[in-house]
Amino acid sequence: MSLFLLLAAALTTCYFSPRRAADAQMFMIRDVTLSIEPGGDVTRGTNVTLRCRAAVSSSGPEALTREYTVSKDGAAVYTKTSRGPEDLLYRLADARVANSGRYSCKVAIEGRPATSGAKKLTVTGLSDPVLRLNKGVVSEGEELSATCTAPGEAGSIFFSFYEDGAEVREQQVASDRAEVKLRLGGVGVRRLHCAYTVLVSPHAFKSSESNGVTVSVKELPIAVVLEILPRTPKIYEGDEIYEGDELFVSCSVHNALLAFSSVHLYLSQGDKLLSRGHATVNHSGVALAEEPADFECRLETGDVVKLDKKTISVTELFSAPTLTMSPAEVFQKEQLKLTCHSESSAPERLEGEELVYSLDPPGGPLAPRGPGVFSGHALPYDFNYTCSARVKGIVKHSAALSVRPKVSVSTPKISVVGRAVLGRPFQILCRSEVGSLPVNYTLLTGYDPLSSVSVERPPRQALFTATVHKPEDIGKFMCEAQNRQREAPLSKRLNATVIVPLTHPLLTVIPPPADVSEGDDLYLICGVRGSPPVSFKWYRVGERQPLHTTTSGQNHTEYRLPGLSRAHSGVYYCEADNHADNVVRSDSVTIEGEATSGTLTSGTDPDLWD
Ligand SMILES: *[C@@H]1O[C@H](CO)[C@@H](O)[C@H](O)[C@H]1NC(C)=O
Ligand SMILES: *[C@@H]1O[C@H](CO)[C@@H](O)[C@H](O)[C@H]1NC(C)=O
Ligand SMILES: *[C@@H]1O[C@H](CO)[C@@H](O)[C@H](O)[C@H]1NC(C)=O
Ligand SMILES: *[C@@H]1O[C@H](CO)[C@@H](O)[C@H](O)[C@H]1NC(C)=O
Ligand SMILES: *[C@@H]1O[C@H](CO)[C@@H](O)[C@H](O)[C@H]1NC(C)=O
Ligand SMILES: *[C@@H]1O[C@H](CO)[C@@H](O)[C@H](O)[C@H]1NC(C)=O
Repeated sequence: MSLFLLLAAALTTCYFSPRRAADAQMFMIRDVTLSIEPGGDVTRGTNVTLRCRAAVSSSGPEALTREYTVSKDGAAVYTKTSRGPEDLLYRLADARVANSGRYSCKVAIEGRPATSGAKKLTVTGLSDPVLRLNKGVVSEGEELSATCTAPGEAGSIFFSFYEDGAEVREQQVASDRAEVKLRLGGVGVRRLHCAYTVLVSPHAFKSSESNGVTVSVKELPIAVVLEILPRTPKIYEGDEIYEGDELFVSCSVHNALLAFSSVHLYLSQGDKLLSRGHATVNHSGVALAEEPADFECRLETGDVVKLDKKTISVTELFSAPTLTMSPAEVFQKEQLKLTCHSESSAPERLEGEELVYSLDPPGGPLAPRGPGVFSGHALPYDFNYTCSARVKGIVKHSAALSVRPKVSVSTPKISVVGRAVLGRPFQILCRSEVGSLPVNYTLLTGYDPLSSVSVERPPRQALFTATVHKPEDIGKFMCEAQNRQREAPLSKRLNATVIVPLTHPLLTVIPPPADVSEGDDLYLICGVRGSPPVSFKWYRVGERQPLHTTTSGQNHTEYRLPGLSRAHSGVYYCEADNHADNVVRSDSVTIEGEATSGTLTSGTDPDLWD
């Protein structure tokens, strides 16, 4: 007993037979092998044998029960229990493509399993499919039964049926045949064949084409007739159909051998179903030029459809009117005429009746002045009109006409942009507050036009560039605005100041230097020619900052040096500037404050600051 325990501890793949503990024998599955005979790649029809061999060692003579399981692609396909040591044989007689797959074998002894490695079996070749039909001749719409067979094949099979080369049906079955009901396309001879595909996941094997079988499809002796007749009290030469003519449309079945109850007739015009019935379908209506001109009579019985189509040509009795306006351009509240007119009509069919025109919306500001003529004053705002022409119960409308009355341009205003400086170009703005675009602006001097601008987009204004050489010339500018032929309102004269640039700067000392004593006040007067306001600056040479800065509404101003002393000695000058932005500088003046003599000298000394 202790020996067994030792052995058991040493050999982990060694088992005791639990059923017979008294004289239990040990066993061990050394190896399981699967082999495929005659080989892994075979053609269809080969007798294939899968051989499963289990190599088992045991401690006694006792036969051990072996449970074999053969699996294909992971699913058990065969099991067998045997007591002998001989190999398990799993026979695949007459192998098919469907037998292809990965096989393995498992052996279990007393619940202890061991599995072989997987072996792949590939069977190639499919049998040729066979197609059989139950009829060789059918009537159109009649059903036919087709059977496609894959002789000897097994597994999951897709059968496909073809009519004249195009697949018409597919069916998946788990057997070697499929039967379908087919209705063939149209009258004539059709060729049918079939094929199949065996699914062996993840592969699909497609067979060759079956035999071809021809079928004749005979036409049903049935026809539909569509007739369209003008039904107007008068008789007209030719077949021409005019708008307003009454039409009689009839759709009927001819040569019907069938019971009428199984026949359905549909009469339609364009997409509109007019009527339906069995043996005959009639319809009356008025021909209208704008309606679809194609009529169709359709017969349906079972799956058979018969058609008769006719297209009529409806001649217009008169054309849709057009609405026009004169004059082409109208200003608010001015006289306006609208004319409604149909370009063409068929007088031979109007029977002396006249087209009656009316303007929409009715009751507007325009009153009728004759056939199709409406006049009155334009409204002060945009308005859309349409008109219609009517005769013999037929009404046609024109497209909408938008009347957009224009607004007369207002008297323009003329002004200078920024400042006008004598002798330099400046800009003149001409602007009308109201008025429909485009507006033509013209700049005039005196009454002579200088230049013109056509303004088509807001802002409703024009800019001109001008130069004046005499200040009074600025008052000669005027501008006019025009957005209609007859009138061109004129602006006032341009009222603006011309800035005269500064010239002739002069620094004067008061009192004259000769008359001054120490302690007196001294006035440095800076003067220029040119337009005020002027900004003045006084400087002493050697000092960066001005002594004094002031702006004057006049063209001269003074700077007082109080209590003259020696400290005031120096060279002075002034600068002036106005809106013309050109700084002018005076000559310099020398002031000498001597405490002893009390005299001053004045004079120019450009060397000191040039
Ligand atoms: C396959 O085995 C069957 C008997 O099971 C035998 O009749 C047949 O001839 C064998 N086919 C081939 C190709 O050996
Ligand atoms: C249709 O019109 C034809 C000929 O005018 C007439 O014989 C037939 O009875 C009418 N059918 C129907 C359903 O009104
Ligand atoms: C006139 O018709 C046009 C479109 O055709 C539309 O945009 C406009 O608003 C209409 N005007 C009036 C005043 O109804
Ligand atoms: C505006 O000027 C253009 C050409 O410059 C001219 O064709 C048009 O008739 C003028 N418009 C008016 C309303 O005078
Ligand atoms: C010119 O404009 C000034 C104000 O800018 C005004 O006082 C003067 O009356 C105007 N002159 C004329 C002729 O309109
Ligand atoms: C100075 O301005 C006055 C008016 O303020 C003008 O009459 C005079 O001509 C101007 N002097 C010069 C030199 O421009």
